[in-house]
Amino acid sequence: MNKIKLLSQNVINQIAAGEVIERPASIVKELVENSIDAGANSITLEISMGGKDLIRVTDNGVGMSREDAKLCFVKHATSKIENESDLYHLYTLGFRGEAIASVASVSLVELKTKFKGANLGTEINIEGGDEKKISDIGFNEGTQFSVKSLFFNTPARRKFLKSDSTEYSHIADTMTNFALCYPEIHFKFYNNSKKVFDLPKVSGLEKRIFDLLGDNYAKKLIPVFSDHKEIKIRGFIGDLESARTTKSGQYLFINGRQINNAYISHAVSSGYSSFLPEKMHPCFVMKMEVDPQIADFNIHPRKLEVRFSKQQDVYSITKYAVKEALEKGLSNNFNLKQNPFETRNEGVWELKDERIKNNDKHLFKSNFYTPSGYQNTGLKLSDKNIQDSLEFSKNFSQEMSKINFEIHEERRTSSIKPLTQVKNSYLICENDQGLIIIDQHAAHERIIFMKLKKNLLDKTVSKQQLLLPLQLNLSYKEVEALNANKSLLEKIGFELEFFGGNTFNVLSIPSFFNHDDIEFILKGMIDDLINEVPVKGIEDKEDYILHYIACRSAIKFGKFLNQREQEALITQLEEAEMKFTCPHGRPTMLKFSFEELEKKFGRR
Ligand SMILES: Nc1ncnc2c1ncn2[C@@H]1O[C@H](COP(=O)(O)OP(=O)(O)O)[C@@H](O)[C@H]1O
Ligand SMILES: [Mg+2]
Repeated sequence: MNKIKLLSQNVINQIAAGEVIERPASIVKELVENSIDAGANSITLEISMGGKDLIRVTDNGVGMSREDAKLCFVKHATSKIENESDLYHLYTLGFRGEAIASVASVSLVELKTKFKGANLGTEINIEGGDEKKISDIGFNEGTQFSVKSLFFNTPARRKFLKSDSTEYSHIADTMTNFALCYPEIHFKFYNNSKKVFDLPKVSGLEKRIFDLLGDNYAKKLIPVFSDHKEIKIRGFIGDLESARTTKSGQYLFINGRQINNAYISHAVSSGYSSFLPEKMHPCFVMKMEVDPQIADFNIHPRKLEVRFSKQQDVYSITKYAVKEALEKGLSNNFNLKQNPFETRNEGVWELKDERIKNNDKHLFKSNFYTPSGYQNTGLKLSDKNIQDSLEFSKNFSQEMSKINFEIHEERRTSSIKPLTQVKNSYLICENDQGLIIIDQHAAHERIIFMKLKKNLLDKTVSKQQLLLPLQLNLSYKEVEALNANKSLLEKIGFELEFFGGNTFNVLSIPSFFNHDDIEFILKGMIDDLINEVPVKGIEDKEDYILHYIACRSAIKFGKFLNQREQEALITQLEEAEMKFTCPHGRPTMLKFSFEELEKKFGRR
């Protein structure tokens, strides 16, 4: 017999929690957002075991009264909105009133808080949504949430969590975004009691970018600025040389939220127009303030997306702002006329409005920056020097794909003779049996893959020490990806030394690699590792990584090879095991025997 029962609130919470609380990083995001909404200017995050064991966020915000401290665990209890119309005038990061209830339903939560001006604070312990203890405590003004044993009561969901290192890297990513979006907040971050970063508050975004992402984030940062009535833009875009093969250097914030928006990313790229080499992505840290009436953040439970009612306007305003910034920034690059961006100081972007710290439902209004010293140089894209830089950017694109594969071994002759290269992609060759067409990228991929594999299996790794170690400046997420795979990389010849902060030194590389491309190859590989790009036809995790490197370092389609390079490629391919297919199983060469040709021509 069927009997319909109402689910308990606790079960409802657990179901809904699936949307908001996907992994430890989502809890970090919710807690830190609450601290920001509470007007904190100092926020500390401590985690252990990738956040599975502990996530603790401590802030110096307004805190909560004993009554509010109890209420915050009730689903749909929020101090941020009152009615539906408030949803269209959102000035806070939170508004659903469900995060704390959801977190508490799947973990052990300890809350300590003291309301501004109160004598005593409150401590509440909740286990899987049930209140266990409430007491008065002495505590600093502010709030501390400790979330322990995530998914302790839903083991099936705990099983779905990734390794500590992967979960850590998601958290590091979340924190990186917060730190970039809020330079006026002091952020501290500890992982397993070790400091990851301690970023004192600064008044300028540029300083925060350097403190957090390092000097190598961009060779040069160009301020971007727009003051349209409904859409305001402040931030920095990277120069041409800082463009990357992926979008990993793009940080977008809209109304104080980290947002994934392919549309705006595209608008930025199109602002670079032909300046940007093909398939390269600019890096940028861009903050937009959009009139809440034209932006809807209530379309994704984790509020990572936004929908605009005036899409076209947002696109063109962004594109134009980037284009204008670039024209000015590039003129500066070539030391033309006056230089409005000379001052790389914190004062360039001043805080105009102090955040209003009260417990009003509009906790704080927009925190806009005004650039000082920003003037129009009157330069246009037609200027000669800008044309030069355009030329430079095109060459640069070729440079980036340049893989100069030197023959380190003695030259040997092959039975296959290259006749010519067509489309800068295929080698047309002959041997005594017929005609052979080689796919230069697939062939080189196989060669490198087998050499890496040999290094991995051999006891003595064939590697070359670099005269000067190569410094890799990475994001925290990238550092983690590299750390997690360090031992494998060492087995194939990349000797890496953690230099502290977010810097790695590369001490040696596989002997058959060309120095010039190492940074490009390693950064590309790290991106693949982070994105866990699946490789068709390969199952083994180690082989995956070898393939990432092989694919990133193999000569590209469209690259001209001279006679000697063609011969070297063929000789090496002939010596490679499994030479007829690339690591994905696609052919590296096609053969047409003379007999076949004769048949086709009707001679037989
Ligand atoms: N760090 C904090 N400081 C002060 N108040 C907080 C803090 N975290 C949560 N709160 C209070 O608890 C309420 C519920 O939080 P939450 O479940 O995240 O929902 P929302 O943020 O959507 O309102 C908030 O509206 C706020 O009043
Ligand atoms: Mg919240």
